[in-house]
Amino acid sequence: MASRVCETPACNSEAKLQCPTCIKLGIAGSFFCSQDCFKGSWSEHKKVHKKAKEAENEKSGLFNPWPGFHFTGKLRPYHVTTKRTVPDMIQRPDYAEHPEGTPVSERQLKGSTNIKIMNDEEIDGMRLAGRLGREVLDEAVKAIDIGVTTDEIDRIIHEACIDRECYPSPLNYYGFPKSCCTSINEVICHGIPDLRPLEDGDIMNIDVTVYHRNFHGDLNETFFVGNVGEKAKHLVKTTHECLQMAINEVRPGVRYREIGNVIQKHAQANGFSVVRSYCGHGIHQLFHTAPSVPHYSKNKAVGVMKPGQCFTIEPMISEGTWRDEMWPDNWTAVTFDGKLSAQFEHTLLVTDIGCDVLTKRLENNGQPHFMDKM
Ligand code: MF3
Ligand code: CO
Ligand code: CO
Repeated sequence: MASRVCETPACNSEAKLQCPTCIKLGIAGSFFCSQDCFKGSWSEHKKVHKKAKEAENEKSGLFNPWPGFHFTGKLRPYHVTTKRTVPDMIQRPDYAEHPEGTPVSERQLKGSTNIKIMNDEEIDGMRLAGRLGREVLDEAVKAIDIGVTTDEIDRIIHEACIDRECYPSPLNYYGFPKSCCTSINEVICHGIPDLRPLEDGDIMNIDVTVYHRNFHGDLNETFFVGNVGEKAKHLVKTTHECLQMAINEVRPGVRYREIGNVIQKHAQANGFSVVRSYCGHGIHQLFHTAPSVPHYSKNKAVGVMKPGQCFTIEPMISEGTWRDEMWPDNWTAVTFDGKLSAQFEHTLLVTDIGCDVLTKRLENNGQPHFMDKM
């Protein structure tokens, strides 16, 4: 048998000891003459392991783009596939074409607390956008399963939008790279669809916004992947109840600041906390505009509800702390303690007697909703 030479540069001794990590990782070679030589070469040699692991991860779509970043929980980013395109025929918002994705029309109204009251024609536009948004989300729901990637969910949503002559509102909004948000486990909101396969026990929020003939419709729901734990179920159920209880308060004359009181009371009564960094928002020809609708109590939201106004309520409720942190992708908002967070969202129209839920589930959809089984 040919004798092997020690890996250590300029050592040249006969080598019989093979690096155990290399054996485990299936790296060929890596023989050393002695423990001392192995130890002396360690700082250089270990780079071989790192390279091999990165190559392995790359193959499965997993990679760490931010070496040294401390993650609050177990979730990790995976590879994000290239931006999808929308046919020229489909009408798009101003930011779709902007090099940085800046919503110029939204920016012009920044700081304004004026809440638009829509005329009948505009209300019809909002009803249609809300219904189409609901249809798009329901298409994606059918695909949820263990092993399916959020990139695949995003593809289905992107195509369901195009099928309905809609532009997927998140795409290029302030540069957002995908057509919807998928927020798993400790992700509070704005998760970027990537090549991570869904795992048994995950909770996943899918947030869909469509832009159809000048109007946005915005909704989201949190779903179970396989069998999820009891605490996660309780969190998701409570979050859904928070949204429903808040919607029940919506009618002319109610202050926008009241919404947060109802939500926090119910969240707290169940031992959960309310995320403070992200709020509901006015929505119509603009994606995000006045009013800002915080979900926490004793907030200072400006404005009183009037017929013809449209806005979202989208409470994010967390298992542990209400504090959030952002991944270095500048989008993914995660809980500070790595514990779970859930969310539900509807787009609402204030009517003379209460409100219409523009993104409500469709009759005769034929699909049992996961909430029906709880
Ligand atoms: N749909 C989200 C909301 O409810 C906003 C997503 S913006 C994006 O307001 F850029 F992150 F997609
Ligand atoms: Co919204
Ligand atoms: Co949304």
